[in-house]
Amino acid sequence: MHRRNFLASTVGFQTGALALAQAAAPAAATESADQSARNESYWRQIRQAFTLDPNIINLNAGTISPAPRHVQDMMYRYMELASLQPAYYSDELLIPQVERVRRRLAGTFGCDPEEIAVMRNATEALQAVQLGLNLKQGDEVLTTTQDYPSTLTGWRQRQARDGIVLKTISFPTPPPSPDDLLHRFEKAITPRTRVILFCQVTYTTGQMFPVRQICEMARAKGIETIVDGAHGFAQFPFRYADLRCDYYGSSLHKWLMAPAGTGFLFVRREKIGKVWPLNAAPLELKENIRKFEATGVSAFAIRSAITDAIDFHEAVTVERKAARLRYLRQYWTNRVQSIPGVRILNRDDPAMSCGLGAMTLEGWDSNKLTGYLMKEYRVHVRSRYVPNEFHCIRVTPNIYSTLEELETFVNAVERAAKTRA
Ligand SMILES: Cc1ncc(COP(=O)(O)O)c(C=O)c1O
Repeated sequence: MHRRNFLASTVGFQTGALALAQAAAPAAATESADQSARNESYWRQIRQAFTLDPNIINLNAGTISPAPRHVQDMMYRYMELASLQPAYYSDELLIPQVERVRRRLAGTFGCDPEEIAVMRNATEALQAVQLGLNLKQGDEVLTTTQDYPSTLTGWRQRQARDGIVLKTISFPTPPPSPDDLLHRFEKAITPRTRVILFCQVTYTTGQMFPVRQICEMARAKGIETIVDGAHGFAQFPFRYADLRCDYYGSSLHKWLMAPAGTGFLFVRREKIGKVWPLNAAPLELKENIRKFEATGVSAFAIRSAITDAIDFHEAVTVERKAARLRYLRQYWTNRVQSIPGVRILNRDDPAMSCGLGAMTLEGWDSNKLTGYLMKEYRVHVRSRYVPNEFHCIRVTPNIYSTLEELETFVNAVERAAKTRA
């Protein structure tokens, strides 16, 4: 099939859930993002764009978010087409689409397309840099105890293999201020520190970090920065110029709501040549970002649907999305914080929290509470443990969540508080 015919055949699918999001937009067009955050009829329309299980209240969008119906439809469409003649259609249609995906991601992130590699997830993106940098015995890397297990594992492997030194800083949850986080890194730096890796937003409680301040401080000392943006990209508005890190890796199946198994890596152009790719690529590609994509046959159809997820994201707008996510977190935290035994682990400061929130309930182990909420109320949250520090439940509504669902969660916590674990 000719490429133009292929694209024409997808147009019908773009009228489904994407059209719903686009049609809902005028209802909110005259409002500020903060006003839209409270416009329940607008968000009811947006909810219709998803295929949710109505028998489960999904407050765990932070692990893998459901993709809008439009994104799912397009992914199946790409798969069906490729299945007609996999080798030919992959070569002719799906593989070349990566260039469009790259450009759209670069447009959203605010960088040159030649700095974006399309990856399968945040783990792959971040480990490509962690394992690909030239580090030698005694070189120090700095991260936090609340960084993601897969990036900690990446450093531990280098520790075992190359003798690098891994230093992890801890911080109060929640910390008193963004500056407190900056100063903790600053204090832990030694003449041997080569790299700082940290989360834009932590997976534990949703703590946001002062990315640009940390990156500028590090660069002034000749230290490279890797930012784990798994929970940053597409959750709230920012551009690369607001971060200024050397490397950035993110999942796209979280806040962009692309199909599971999608992510991207950003590498500052002048740094590309110094990072070895995870899978060997031709040496002529040394300075080419595509060397990080040398994985052989991949899930091309899933990758192509990233563009459709960006279309949906743009129809909602990241400003409205962030305002709604913040409103939902404030809504449930305000409702539960008067329940005896509840402690909220977030500060309600836009520089420190957006959609993710976390809490503990006295007398309840977080795993038990998570199990109780699912068994008794069909409410899905995530239990989070930081060894030797704390445990909590992480609560992550998304733009399809309703206030009624949050009320059910609040009632469930109220009952749990009156019940012995
Ligand atoms: C902060 C953070 N980093 C990295 C990851 C890993 O993401 P992925 O599953 O896309 O590899 C996650 C996943 O939850 C995360 O929360």
